[in-house]
Amino acid sequence: MRLLNLVAMIAMLAAPAAAQDLRIGMVTPPPHQWTRSANALAEELATRSEGRMKLAVFPSGQLGSEAQMLQQLQAGALDFAFLTVGELANRNPDFGILVAPYLVDTAEDAARLLEGPTAAALQDRLGALGLKGLGYGMAGMRIVLLSKPLDGTVAGRKIRTVPLTQEMDFWAKAGAAPTPLPLPELFDAYANGQIDGMQLDLEGTWNNRFQDYSAVVLDTRHAIFPMFAVASARKWQTLPPEDRALIEELMTAETAHIRAAYPAIDADYRAKLHEAGAPIVEAGPEVFGTAVQDWYAEWRRKTPLLADLEAEVR
Ligand code: BEZ
Repeated sequence: MRLLNLVAMIAMLAAPAAAQDLRIGMVTPPPHQWTRSANALAEELATRSEGRMKLAVFPSGQLGSEAQMLQQLQAGALDFAFLTVGELANRNPDFGILVAPYLVDTAEDAARLLEGPTAAALQDRLGALGLKGLGYGMAGMRIVLLSKPLDGTVAGRKIRTVPLTQEMDFWAKAGAAPTPLPLPELFDAYANGQIDGMQLDLEGTWNNRFQDYSAVVLDTRHAIFPMFAVASARKWQTLPPEDRALIEELMTAETAHIRAAYPAIDADYRAKLHEAGAPIVEAGPEVFGTAVQDWYAEWRRKTPLLADLEAEVR
């Protein structure tokens, strides 16, 4: 009997680990840094697992909106995603503190904030949403594009925002009409004149040539835009410990790479826009009227965790 057990154990240990066909989704298009990072991750995972783990990358919202991807992750029907803060904040408002206006001045500061204790505490809350957090990436600092010239403030414009309560509230407080639109729908909406402007970043501006449709590109750098690398918690617990360890190692490295890359990515696209003669100008918080102080007055009360984040940058 004991010999049989031993034989079974040896057979188990000698059995090759199961192949893993995994999928990751994101709303960003193929040239975007997040998608490039997902492709790099897929390559590294294949190399390090000697072809046993395959990660298929689905960019441009091919698997649906972020709300749909979140549902798939919760059901274990999707393995991984690079998510914006949008859907997470709509389920737990504390996540929305990360898009507080003028929290930091630079993309370097944004990266540091995402490596700090408040961001880590937020990542721990992903479990309640059926997700396993695998690190923060980020996009460039948020800027504003307007199809017609600026006349003092942004009040009265129909401005695209991410479908995210705190961001929409900021624009409402600025007197604009916030119009939530996911990234893949943005080009048509701007080209068709459905919106008068948008909140985006320099990378998205350049890659879509949005400067050609704009009277002005306001280089406000008024908020950070975090990215959450997540796994389906349901799927995660079915993976063998050694596969989980490899994925965690590679995700940690890739998200760190993204955070470190964005200061240069922003600088590079800013230079490209200037060189191309785009109507890009620096603009301060005055273009938002009293929105910044009004926003903090409301969201410090609604999400007290915001004070912890603010304390980290003081
Ligand atoms: C956006 O919707 O503005 C966005 C989404 C992902 C990366 C960068 C920007």
